Amino acid sequence: MSGRASGSGQRVLAYHEHSKHQPHRFAPGPGQLDWANQPDPFRSYDGAPRIRLPLVADGMKVSWNDLHHPAGRVPVWPVDRVSVGALLELSLGLSAWKVHGGSRWALRCNPSSGNLHPTEGYVVVPGMGGGGRENGLEAGVYHYFSRDHLLEQRRVLGSGESEAWNALFAPDHFLLGLTSIHWREAWKYGDRAYRYCQLDVGHAIAAVRYAAATLGWQVRLLTAPATRDIARLLGVTASGVAFGLPDAEPEQADLLLQIAPMGADWVELTPKVASLVELAGQGPWLGRPNRLSRRHGMEWPLVDEMAEVTRQPWCAISEAFASAPLPELAERDGALSAATLIRQRRSAQQFDANASLDREALWRILDATMPRPGRAPWDLLPWAPRVFPVLMIHRVSGVEPGLYLLARDPDRIEALRGALDGAFRWDPVAGAPDHLPLFGLRPGAFQESAYWLSCQQDIASDGVLTLGMVTEFPAELALYPWIYRQLYWEAGMVGQTLYLEAEAAGHRGTGIGCFLDDGFHQLIGLRSDRFQTIYHFTLGTPILDARLSSEPPYRV
Ligand SMILES: Cc1cc2nc3c(=O)[nH]c(=O)nc-3n(C[C@H](O)[C@H](O)[C@H](O)COP(=O)(O)O)c2cc1C
Repeated sequence: MSGRASGSGQRVLAYHEHSKHQPHRFAPGPGQLDWANQPDPFRSYDGAPRIRLPLVADGMKVSWNDLHHPAGRVPVWPVDRVSVGALLELSLGLSAWKVHGGSRWALRCNPSSGNLHPTEGYVVVPGMGGGGRENGLEAGVYHYFSRDHLLEQRRVLGSGESEAWNALFAPDHFLLGLTSIHWREAWKYGDRAYRYCQLDVGHAIAAVRYAAATLGWQVRLLTAPATRDIARLLGVTASGVAFGLPDAEPEQADLLLQIAPMGADWVELTPKVASLVELAGQGPWLGRPNRLSRRHGMEWPLVDEMAEVTRQPWCAISEAFASAPLPELAERDGALSAATLIRQRRSAQQFDANASLDREALWRILDATMPRPGRAPWDLLPWAPRVFPVLMIHRVSGVEPGLYLLARDPDRIEALRGALDGAFRWDPVAGAPDHLPLFGLRPGAFQESAYWLSCQQDIASDGVLTLGMVTEFPAELALYPWIYRQLYWEAGMVGQTLYLEAEAAGHRGTGIGCFLDDGFHQLIGLRSDRFQTIYHFTLGTPILDARLSSEPPYRV
């Protein structure tokens, strides 16, 4: 086991090195895009029965503020078709259609590298809300078809099976599974695509957690189930040979989230997963997955290999991280509804290069990335923070421009200090809340660096700040290579928090997947290659593109 596993760990590290962008050599990609075979951004299952979901987000009044404060401010919704629909509408659902010239494309609540959206969502539910009634849902496994906001019924439990199936769930608990179709990203980004898919999963995890918070629900990531079992439970296939049909692109299982209303006794479904897999596996599966591209001009075997190498077996190691209580997040003015904020989130494409951010706004944005017990989205992770933003602050009023680090887990400060440039100052930042472990490393102007290190993207220098997310590849990666995916998921979650908090502050963010890895390492004087930057982000005051027009996400 350990020989094979440590071989896998080596392959992960080799992949990481290989997929770095260097100043004169980008990670291998297709070069020219094969537009005729651009992947369909929507997976659907032809022939699967379709269940309409109501659109309810417009009527949801709970504010963004309320989500971050003690339970009781957010009414707890019963679990039924209406509320599951709201959960999906506010996490993986469309947020708008954009139109420019002859093109029209959809945006979603969850962002995605290149807007290619490799992440798919499934729900695994007991019978709820009275089965066939308006708010009911039959026991089974469903794929979320975001384009039309409906569920495709993949596996319906017959009358003989549903009793056993329902008995496996605690009352009002259900599962949401995420999967990735790597081809969607590989088509454009080649070998680096595997990283982007994992970041997108991280964004989707946090999107689900925030959406659940608007309904008064709690969410946990189940870390034990084997990837293969998750695939069998959701009815997806990594081989691309879907139930005898050789056409559909491979779809990789990522993870299961367990969801239940706040206040319900938490009954971990992990011990029931094997029985759910067995029952689901008795089939039949309904519907035939669509093919996304007619032809695949180029294949990216390294991306497939990474999916294979980071596949997780049943993992009995249970991590239990309890974050220390921190003062509540600072209240924001106004009662902007969370549902509005979530759907107005966009990636900025251009920033006002003269605008600045108020320092109180910066504290709040950074503070929202700190885990607090029972607060979205960090309460769903069973591990201590492993991703540490290193900020290039350009224009924040009252904060000297320069390099800063947010030690999201103060226990890691010494390790970070040992890994980064020995000349860094590690000064506590004047005026920041006492509990925020923000340190000044080096004053200076970093706009030019941000621009060059972000593949010459103006947003990185014109924003008020740009940051790199530094993580440590732990020694255990050799034995448990799937930790690589988890690090990226956490980075994606940080990105999602930054997007939403920037929006709430009246500014805007953009994820940056295109950056020069080792160039950033040099900037921060990294002395150990165990530490790596895995995702970047910029935020500022957006300049809107007046040429684009917007249409509502769904016709009512
Ligand atoms: C992992 C990831 C990497 C991204 N990298 C970049 C980037 O390097 N440059 C950029 O302009 N936008 C980047 N984006 C933003 C996407 O292009 C954007 O999310 C997508 O077009 C959908 O638009 P929306 O975020 O407004 O919904 C990235 C987004 C994600 C999630």
